[in-house]
Amino acid sequence: MNNQEKKLWSGRFASSAAQILEEYNASIVFDYKLYREDITGSLAHVKMLAKQNIITASEAESIAKALIEIREEISQDPRGWAMARISDEDIHMAVEKRLTEMLGDTAKKLHTARSRNDQVVTDLRLWMKNEVADISNLLKDLKKSFLDRAELDINILVPGYTHLQQAQAISLGHFWLAHEAKFSRDLARLEDALKRIDVCPLGSGALAGSTFNINRDFTAKELGFSQVSNNSLDAVADRDFVVEFEFVLSMIMVHLSQFAEEMIVWNSQEFSFIEINDAYATGSSMMPQKKNPDIPELLRGKAGRVIGVMNALMITLKGLSLTYNKDLQEDKEQLFMASETVKKSLTIAADFLKNIEINSTKMLEALEHSFTNATDAAEYLVKKGLPFRDAYTIVGKAVAYSIKESKFLHNLSLEEWQSFSEVFSEDIIQTIKIANCVDARNVYGATARSQVKQQIARLKEVLETYE
Ligand code: ARG
Repeated sequence: MNNQEKKLWSGRFASSAAQILEEYNASIVFDYKLYREDITGSLAHVKMLAKQNIITASEAESIAKALIEIREEISQDPRGWAMARISDEDIHMAVEKRLTEMLGDTAKKLHTARSRNDQVVTDLRLWMKNEVADISNLLKDLKKSFLDRAELDINILVPGYTHLQQAQAISLGHFWLAHEAKFSRDLARLEDALKRIDVCPLGSGALAGSTFNINRDFTAKELGFSQVSNNSLDAVADRDFVVEFEFVLSMIMVHLSQFAEEMIVWNSQEFSFIEINDAYATGSSMMPQKKNPDIPELLRGKAGRVIGVMNALMITLKGLSLTYNKDLQEDKEQLFMASETVKKSLTIAADFLKNIEINSTKMLEALEHSFTNATDAAEYLVKKGLPFRDAYTIVGKAVAYSIKESKFLHNLSLEEWQSFSEVFSEDIIQTIKIANCVDARNVYGATARSQVKQQIARLKEVLETYE
């Protein structure tokens, strides 16, 4: 390699290393998504500075006016605006720099009594409050979709499973309500997480607070926060509220994934309990007969990345000393992705539910070819006075006999029943009819159709409280 070549190569490396460093350090490529919150926070901050006579009213006014113009400017093309300003590092610096271009010296007063450390976490909390509201609404929509399905399918009977083995007959309405219950808990979890998100850190400064006579309650109120953070060191370092939110997002994805898995199984040729709408499936590039349930598979698959985001942040946090460390910049990019994934997944799941075709004949057929009524036969004997263990053994023998004879319990004649125990009489035939087995489970929370109807009525009342 001659000298000139070497020089050329190292020259190129030197310049690209600087560029890589700048890009590596910059968060504006993703935190531009906080531009609205950043400007909202700055507007409250300057208002407070003027109120406290830290800057003049006219300075505050011109800063506010320019900030609103900047917000309008960014909103035209947020990503494009940000990409042209990678050298400004993050959205906070970029907005301030733009303000300086517009106002000159007055702009330099905006950052009085504030640090990017309290600023960034204020922005993030504001952003998350909006996300919580959006996700709550989507959860409520999904809950309603399950409820609508339950109401529609209350009279459809289907095997209920343990270990994916046919266990007992249930109302399909009851099954949908079980999924609804999972998302009800997620909604409650989200509402609870909001208490930790809805805290204003502004005024904590870089870490130790401010020497200015700022009014933290004023900015908190102005920004709609219900609490003010209590410890400035903790306020700039805390990201628990992000992890907690990501846990709720993960739980939602786990629930969506379980639901999707069940729908994939039910859609298989072997089950054929449901038919997935064409819009949610795609063909194979090679096998002409295929219709693959791609969308539920993605609902299931995307749980991985959301859980990964929660894990990643916990791992980022575990070695951090008080207070702000640049590691914390890693919180946002993946959080944005996780929240977006959950919002899309919830929207898709709610719509998917409306488009499932139920094959109730197949479901009933499965029940008619099952021993899901074995417990009912045993409980019949118990009600006639036998101890449960003895009843269990007797019905076990009846099951073994039926299998040998290629029959099911509901095909046995009274004579056959009586060959296992003379306690059996005519009413065993009615008792073990599938629909009777379902309706006999008539305790609170159970699958009897009268119970499911009551559950639906209760849930409807809850839904009505949502605005
Ligand atoms: N871009 C930074 C972040 O996202 C903002 C805070 C930077 N503060 C600092 N002292 N470097 O966390």
